[in-house]
Amino acid sequence: MHPNRTMSIALASGKGGVGKTNIALNLALALGDLGHRVLLLDADLGLANVDVLLGIAPQYTIHDILHGTPAQDVLIALDPHVDLLPSASGVADLGDLDEDAQTTLMGHLEGIFHGYDFLLLDLGAGISPTVVALAAMPQERAVVITPEPTSLTDGYAFIKVLLLQRGIKNFHVIVNMVEQENEGHVAFERLSLACERFLNLGIRLMGIIPRDPKIADAVREQTPFLRLTPEGPAAQAIRLMARDLAQRRERLAGLIARSPILKPLVNHSGE
Ligand SMILES: Nc1ncnc2c1ncn2[C@@H]1O[C@H](COP(=O)(O)OP(=O)(O)O)[C@@H](O)[C@H]1O
Ligand SMILES: [Mg+2]
Repeated sequence: MHPNRTMSIALASGKGGVGKTNIALNLALALGDLGHRVLLLDADLGLANVDVLLGIAPQYTIHDILHGTPAQDVLIALDPHVDLLPSASGVADLGDLDEDAQTTLMGHLEGIFHGYDFLLLDLGAGISPTVVALAAMPQERAVVITPEPTSLTDGYAFIKVLLLQRGIKNFHVIVNMVEQENEGHVAFERLSLACERFLNLGIRLMGIIPRDPKIADAVREQTPFLRLTPEGPAAQAIRLMARDLAQRRERLAGLIARSPILKPLVNHSGE
């Protein structure tokens, strides 16, 4: 088998409404603008998912791939380098599949994933068994928080569950909706300190995104903010994050080559 080149990252959060879907979509487009091939996998079972941000109604989902629909009919091209794999109804059972079924599913998906430089998973919020299972599968996780104290504790709870239930130790953090850059660093330091002190775990800052009132317009107009206001503060922050991520993928090429794109789940029943 060829060495793997696809870097996989899940966008996760302890609570909803922190900006995961907006970040996932716009980060995917920004990576595409840099010439990288990106697959955005919508793994949020809720309503506020990628289709809604784009005003599209996908005809097929991951489920249809398993039942024989060709991948090219299911994938939706968002940009020359960026595809969306809609899956809202298809991933519901992913955590419940037995190992054989998972292996079959992964076999189907790996063939598709291999064509991309990045696989971004937009997860639902919280620590339900399905979300925890999905969050444990990619090579990296970016936990999205806001500077609000409740968001910090929810982010901490998410990290703790992934560590204790799945042994996951590498976490990145994105602080969204900050009024000033310093506020983002302060929020990250608080979370980082708690993780060090109580979990003996180091976490890394992936990026800080300013609060940007134009994002509400972008959501209303069902146009990604990277396109509606490319010079706005949030778009600039997303482009910076995309550049950093692309550099990290280069640096980690050796490690990525030896890693599966999605780690098969081991059933942890009774948790
Ligand atoms: N940086 C930001 N500045 C202002 N509003 C934001 C920002 N990021 C997200 N939002 C708003 O927060 C809401 C929730 O965003 P969304 O991406 O759907 O979050 P999640 O996927 O975490 O539930 C959206 O309506 C969007 O307008
Ligand atoms: Mg969302």
